[in-house]
Amino acid sequence: MTDNAQATRTLSNGETIPVLGLGVWQVPDGKQTEQSVSMALEAGYRLIDTAQAYGNEASVGRAIRSSGIPREDIFLTTKFYPGSRDPLVEAEKSLRRLDTEYVDLYLIHWPQGGPTWAWPGMEKASEAGLAKAIGISNFGADELQELLKVSQIQPAVNQILFNPFDYRRALVEACEQAGVVAQAYSPLGTGQHLNNPVVGRIAEATGRTPAQVLIRWAIQKGLSVIPKSTHRERIEQNYAVFDFTLDDEAVTALDALDTTTQTPDALAPSDKWWS
Ligand code: A2P
Repeated sequence: MTDNAQATRTLSNGETIPVLGLGVWQVPDGKQTEQSVSMALEAGYRLIDTAQAYGNEASVGRAIRSSGIPREDIFLTTKFYPGSRDPLVEAEKSLRRLDTEYVDLYLIHWPQGGPTWAWPGMEKASEAGLAKAIGISNFGADELQELLKVSQIQPAVNQILFNPFDYRRALVEACEQAGVVAQAYSPLGTGQHLNNPVVGRIAEATGRTPAQVLIRWAIQKGLSVIPKSTHRERIEQNYAVFDFTLDDEAVTALDALDTTTQTPDALAPSDKWWS
């Protein structure tokens, strides 16, 4: 289902993940993160995405607590920072900062040191009940295949850089074939794609904003999507994407913006910040 705000995708562990969530990458810890998460929850978001590397888990936790929304109604993601050694130990620390007993999803943030070494620790975090689902982020199709050869619990999600300019079609297809839900971060290209003339033309023709067009495109590609904003009106606007559909002509025009030649890789070699 992609035509209402409660739309979800089903994960390999049988749980569901909302199609739309708030990402808090690059939102400073403290008031700004707390307010962004509070505004998103008030607007109806039920998926919040943070990470150990963002340094803002405590603020996310405070906003969730003070919302009064039952914990089980919120899908909470955090990510293992792979510069650390032990995903189980780091999950325990995350839960203390988040002031919660579990996360819904725990991802390896990027495949630093190779795609398989951290997985047994992720599986331990899952078996200990600290994470309902475990997954990966910034893994290319080859890295996903390597992981699938050794995993006892299969990864539920691969969170990737995905927008019309970073279409990565072969990677999304590899995820689909493996039963892994692909999730799009930087769906607006960290804001850089909002002024693109093709996006602008489609926005005008559909009576929507460029941000809504880019988010809707990623949803129609079958992904869960986590735009980031710290402004209430934008947070609300980004959530109002379930009452329109991009037609084939618009989707084709957006597809043509791809600069990755539909790559199976998660990032270009020069963009792998950890290697
Ligand atoms: P801000 O946080 O100041 O609102 P991405 O999700 O691709 O990382 O993009 C996030 C960037 O896009 C942020 O700089 C954010 O700014 C900006 N942004 C998010 N939503 C909107 C919107 N609806 N209109 C304009 N800019 C937006």
